[in-house]
Amino acid sequence: MSRAFAKVCSCLALAAMLTAAAAETSRLAPWWSGAIVYEIYPRSFQDSNGDGVGDLNGITARLDYIKSLGVDAIWLTPIYPSPLVDFGYDISDYTAIDPQYGTLADFDRLVAEAKKRNIRIVIDLVLNHTSDKHAWFQESASSKDNPKRDWYVWRDGEGPGKPPNNWQSVFGHGGWQYDAKTGQWYWHKFYAGQPDLNWRNPKVAEAMYNVERFWIARGVAGFRLDAITTLFEDPALHDEGVVKDASGKPVINAFGDPQLDDTRTNNLPEVHDILRQIRKVADAASGKEAVLIGETYVASIADLKKMYGAHNDELQMPMDLQVGFVNKLDVARFRSLINAAETGLGDHEPLLVLDNHDNPRWDRYGDGVHNEDIGRVLATVILGSRGAAMYYYGDEIGMVTTPPMRKEDVRDPVGVTGWPKQKGRDGERTPMQWNAGPNAGFSPAGVKPWLAIPPAAVTANVAAEDGKPDTLLAWYRQLGGLRKTNAALRDGDEVMLNTADTHVLAWLRRTPAGEAVLLACNFTAEPQNVSFDLNALNVRAANVLSLMNTPGQVVPRSLAKMVLKPFGVVILQLH
Ligand code: NOJ
Repeated sequence: MSRAFAKVCSCLALAAMLTAAAAETSRLAPWWSGAIVYEIYPRSFQDSNGDGVGDLNGITARLDYIKSLGVDAIWLTPIYPSPLVDFGYDISDYTAIDPQYGTLADFDRLVAEAKKRNIRIVIDLVLNHTSDKHAWFQESASSKDNPKRDWYVWRDGEGPGKPPNNWQSVFGHGGWQYDAKTGQWYWHKFYAGQPDLNWRNPKVAEAMYNVERFWIARGVAGFRLDAITTLFEDPALHDEGVVKDASGKPVINAFGDPQLDDTRTNNLPEVHDILRQIRKVADAASGKEAVLIGETYVASIADLKKMYGAHNDELQMPMDLQVGFVNKLDVARFRSLINAAETGLGDHEPLLVLDNHDNPRWDRYGDGVHNEDIGRVLATVILGSRGAAMYYYGDEIGMVTTPPMRKEDVRDPVGVTGWPKQKGRDGERTPMQWNAGPNAGFSPAGVKPWLAIPPAAVTANVAAEDGKPDTLLAWYRQLGGLRKTNAALRDGDEVMLNTADTHVLAWLRRTPAGEAVLLACNFTAEPQNVSFDLNALNVRAANVLSLMNTPGQVVPRSLAKMVLKPFGVVILQLH
């Protein structure tokens, strides 16, 4: 056998081994490992029937676009019947679809069409509270001895006109609502129209486990568990502490109330017992194919780790909301949070989140000059790090937060209560920008969408960016593809590099087999010189191959000397 032929054979053998290894990895790893989860706010994605509100058929019609991003799963915020006090997070029927969004048949079609494209549908499950119009609450409120009275948290006041204690609603002011008919107060962590369920009552738990079973049988691939840390309250109803500033004065929040410490109504240990049950039900109903994603605003990586369960028996993907919500392009802070996700979660995989329907979009990091490049930096951090990643519809085309200008235009009750200091969440919920035509292609011409189309839609839209290599959309698509095909980006661990650098965030992804990719992002508006010495890491870096680099960025030839343009990014294969 000639040497050349032998070399070809050994390459083929190696390629076959690698393919087999990749197949093995994908067989063993659950589908959500390394997944890209794309959050859709259904009211705002695509209006297919011209009523100004997005719907399920609209999403189905856009599945090919979603597929083009490399998305593995879509998380739909609530689509259940709802009086819309909190735009769907107040559910009045857990096993139906709100007619505004379509029918159960439309939902089944969405699941089936998504499946054809290898995209899974994850739905929101709101367990902490129902709508006050839900039949359970209507019964519960009907009399003190109704069998469902104990399904919610009812208490006597401290005296006439005085609530049971000082607890507050997340959405402003007191969290207890008086009911004149029965002379008691009910607890609502969120709006008064969202009474908290009593999770100490096993019947409540069983009813919700049946909801889980219902949707898994309909083909959902899992749930995003809303406000999951707030299921329990202190049964003794102790007051919460008032947070004080350095001078000892009470801190006043955006609603003008004293800020409370949240210790009696959030993150109580009992939550974990319920998470284990929810997981058992999901595992049994789906043959371990369903994922539980948690809305887990927690104080530290140690608290986040607990959400996976001591025996890996709670959430598979509690959201790591710390990385995406630094709110400032601060290299040291990003580095330490990503490093914490890499080193502080044991064997668990993080789910990094960039933004969502409750918080200003990615442009909160913008400087007004380099926004598009800053968008690329953020996408690289989220999609180039180890683990699963979640971003929000429209981030990929650079949609910006556009809050209403006038109080009379505000739809989110948070903004109604908090105006003008707190303008609410409408700004991050505006309709998807498909093109520069009427209503940005979201609703037909002549229809008034439920929220106004942002002026920026004229330039930031799918049609304007599609097929153009230097756009933000192209960057997202490329990253989405690369993290599936490149072994180091798909399976590699993560090591922070140049950890004293205050301008450039850089990290290495590497597999045990020796594949290595270096990612470097300039977090500043000035060019930065960087070099990397990877000797101590035992990484082969004789050759540097550019996998991706931002528009205008000079492709580096070696690790010894490179210049990153303002907010420039390079992604390099080392070998
Ligand atoms: C978190 C959801 O993301 C938010 O939109 C909602 O208002 C609250 N939970 C209450 O359900």
